Amino acid sequence: MTLLEKDKKYVWHPYTQMKTAAEPLPIVKAEGVWLTDEDGNRYIDAIASWWVNIHGHAHPYIAQRVYEQFLQLEHVIFAGFTHPPAVELAEKLVSILPEGQKKIFYSDNGSTAVEIGIKMALQYFYNKGESRKKIIAFDEAFHGETFGAMSVSGDHELFTAFEDHLFSVDRIPAPLPGREEIAYHQLEALLETGEVAAFIFEPLVMGAGGMLMYTPEQLDRLIALCHQYGAMCIADEVMTGFYRTGKVFACDYLENEPDIMAMSKGLTGGNLPLSVTSCTQEVFDAFWSDDKKKAFFHGHSYTANPLGCAAALASMELLQAETCADQVNMIAAQHTAFMNGIQGHPSIKDIRQTGTILAIEFQTGSTTSYFNEMRDKLYYFFLDKGLLLRPLGNVIYILPPYCIKEKELNRVYNAIEEALDSVVSSNAATKA
Ligand SMILES: Cc1ncc(COP(=O)(O)O)c(C=O)c1O
Repeated sequence: MTLLEKDKKYVWHPYTQMKTAAEPLPIVKAEGVWLTDEDGNRYIDAIASWWVNIHGHAHPYIAQRVYEQFLQLEHVIFAGFTHPPAVELAEKLVSILPEGQKKIFYSDNGSTAVEIGIKMALQYFYNKGESRKKIIAFDEAFHGETFGAMSVSGDHELFTAFEDHLFSVDRIPAPLPGREEIAYHQLEALLETGEVAAFIFEPLVMGAGGMLMYTPEQLDRLIALCHQYGAMCIADEVMTGFYRTGKVFACDYLENEPDIMAMSKGLTGGNLPLSVTSCTQEVFDAFWSDDKKKAFFHGHSYTANPLGCAAALASMELLQAETCADQVNMIAAQHTAFMNGIQGHPSIKDIRQTGTILAIEFQTGSTTSYFNEMRDKLYYFFLDKGLLLRPLGNVIYILPPYCIKEKELNRVYNAIEEALDSVVSSNAATKA
């Protein structure tokens, strides 16, 4: 049997209608931004493999550090035990996180990092004997796939089958341009009840909801309001963390700090599954007690896996090198230049950028849903050109590894222009 035949026989792929989807691409090798399939075709990974990869694939320095760690200590239970990579990484993270973040709690993916953040906020008030149970989230949010993370995610058609089992969450519109005041006043009305435990948000860029963007000033107002009413703020930096938005964290653009932060994806440079939820001393202190029942009862088998921590430490070193900052700035500048050049194209409904993320919303006659038919057309259009872009409905975005070169970026931009032109000509053909 070929690899694809065996894949078909044994494997179930994520976010895939297995009956109708085209065969998956068998990738056998990767280096830098390039993925190579078993026939030797190469693709630029312009979405950093679901937003995780920041220094390029198969990075020799990260591989070496993980290998060395493997020979030393591959894994050990993290309850009652500790180890050097976890402690070193926690120290490193606390030194680069917003100043108020003082403690690091480990887990192994973005959804669990979010789940932990919500549980921390709820138990914070429980331990203090305060009855605050409401959670507030943005309408278009996406925070992951576990039940807690789905509950705080927006009203996604993806999760309809589980609707009856999700816990109730109060929603407000994200403060996108034109909706700032509605968002602010709805939040205020909910906070006035005195029952709000936490407000969770993706800072500045809302990823899976369609790469929606809003300003730091608007988020600052919302955080200030929450703090005025004694509610916790949870920043989900799972996608935005580690320079995606041009600063180490999107929260670095803010005047007001969150109480809890969730991170994953870029944490290990996209090499191994690891995540962290950080919090302030005040949050941690609410669990500090002679009463064993006030402890935080959460922990995964692979919590603080030493290999993941070693990859993260190596990635952190690369991230802090000057060349990485230069690359992030180069990508942001190139995106801006491209955006300015194609603004006003008749196929573009909206185009927006934050740091290394550029999103283009295509004009479409039908609804702008995840299931928009334009999505598949665009996906295969780009794959045929040797580019991995994974549209969210009619929104395409570039979110590349930071090692991408200018000429590789230009290849992506050129293909996008071609796609935009072909939408115009196919619309013209339909009308004719
Ligand atoms: C903002 C945000 N939070 C959480 C998650 C969930 O992360 P994971 O897929 O690692 O569970 C995602 C995934 O895309 C995300 O974008």
